Amino acid sequence: MDFKNILEQIVTQPELHARWLNTLSMMENCGARKISASEHSHDVDLIVLKHAAEEARHAYYLKNQISKTGFDGCETYHPGTLLSPIRSFQYLHQLDTHVSRYLKEQCSLDGHELKYGSYLLVTYAIEVRADDLYPIYEEVLKAKGSSITMRMIIVEEKGHLEEMIEQMARFFQDWPKHGEFALGQEKQLFESWKNSLEVEVGKYYANLQEMA
Ligand SMILES: [Fe+2]
Ligand SMILES: [Fe+2]
Repeated sequence: MDFKNILEQIVTQPELHARWLNTLSMMENCGARKISASEHSHDVDLIVLKHAAEEARHAYYLKNQISKTGFDGCETYHPGTLLSPIRSFQYLHQLDTHVSRYLKEQCSLDGHELKYGSYLLVTYAIEVRADDLYPIYEEVLKAKGSSITMRMIIVEEKGHLEEMIEQMARFFQDWPKHGEFALGQEKQLFESWKNSLEVEVGKYYANLQEMA
């Protein structure tokens, strides 16, 4: 099943939709925390601060949309309030681990340079995904006549991607090569995340049918 079909099934069920929004919120919050954690104690510029602030706002915005689904719950990020909680939690951490190992072994980076280089590549790969995923979700929301919109997030993620490319070009001698590595790793993690969402959504619908 393609991603759009999975989202159509999610958006049709208030509980699944609420947990989906909460899952996105958790991942955005995780991204904001990772950006802050990779900051140097002194060398912090406006772009990094803006990026961390906007990812934190995305987390807040997404959580705030949950009430519009009509489902009451998802106050926290406990596993039962998310979709595919294990894969969703692991997604960013595993990408970070793979990219850090690569930069250490292939580019001999360490210390703060390693932290910063990982921040660049991991965030770049996530921004490429965000630029694909949020517009698909927006299309599904529109088709269902939902009052929820991702317009603000879509505009900001586009800006992030451009900023990441500028920062990568300044830091790496050959950023497209390293960027390709990060995209390849992200694609694998995304595929397994997507598959586990599909399984979970399928089980939810099967349960509904059993109860009917
Ligand atoms: Fe974001
Ligand atoms: Fe972003």
